[in-house]
Amino acid sequence: MLKLENVQVSIGKKRILEDVTMHVAKEEIVAFIGHNGAGKSTTLGAVLGTHRIQNGTIELNNKALTNLSTTDIVREGIGLVPQLNNVFRNLSVEENLELGSVVNQGENGAFTIEKVYEIFPILRERKKQLVGTMSGGQRQMVAIGIGLMSNPSYLLLDEPSVGIQPNLVDKVMETIVKVNKEFGISILIVEQNIKKVLEIADRVYVMSRGSIIKEFVPGTINSEELWQLM
Ligand SMILES: Nc1ncnc2c1ncn2[C@@H]1O[C@H](COP(=O)(O)OP(=O)(O)OP(=O)(O)O)[C@@H](O)[C@H]1O
Ligand SMILES: [Mg+2]
Repeated sequence: MLKLENVQVSIGKKRILEDVTMHVAKEEIVAFIGHNGAGKSTTLGAVLGTHRIQNGTIELNNKALTNLSTTDIVREGIGLVPQLNNVFRNLSVEENLELGSVVNQGENGAFTIEKVYEIFPILRERKKQLVGTMSGGQRQMVAIGIGLMSNPSYLLLDEPSVGIQPNLVDKVMETIVKVNKEFGISILIVEQNIKKVLEIADRVYVMSRGSIIKEFVPGTINSEELWQLM
């Protein structure tokens, strides 16, 4: 289990995360939603160790991640597909995926480029293509592939459907379910497309102004209630 308890983060003098308590159980898909600027990406950054926490604890399977370097946190089994700049545009698909394996520990049957191509057959066809020349949807597949190549047991995705054609959003969501069900990878997914993410999530956290204000199971609150929270 990935567990955050009472996490506080400040950037400069500004408190960005007030009090974040949340968890992702093994093999769960957890959605993480909230307004722009609420602190979702900062929360993922705290897990990855790119934002230092002032208070609270972050643990993976009862081991503290706090104070580990980002490289070591990835080695512990946390993968990230960042919100921005998540591919190397001047490199080919294959080169991008190779770079993703730099921190791959190879335990529990390492993720391989072959497995990424099984999930995204289009990437095999385009393995020599420069990623900067691909569509938004395909670039996002490469970004997810890079995240998988570090062989994570928990994959954090930061708005994977942003900037891609509406008809490809379902495809991205299907892929996330496949990664979860076939490879047993636990998922924490930040999404603006609430309708779509509620279709795949086991549980949902809502963040507002740096704190978690609600946790629910899809289907247990109506859209009006959700609207009021957001
Ligand atoms: N490097 C930084 N320096 C100063 N402020 C920052 C920095 N990064 C984020 N912030 C501020 O922290 C707050 C939370 O930002 P964050 O990116 O975590 O929000 P978010 O929920 O991911 O938003 P979005 O949905 O727009 O991606 C915002 O007010 C933002 O302006
Ligand atoms: Mg963000």
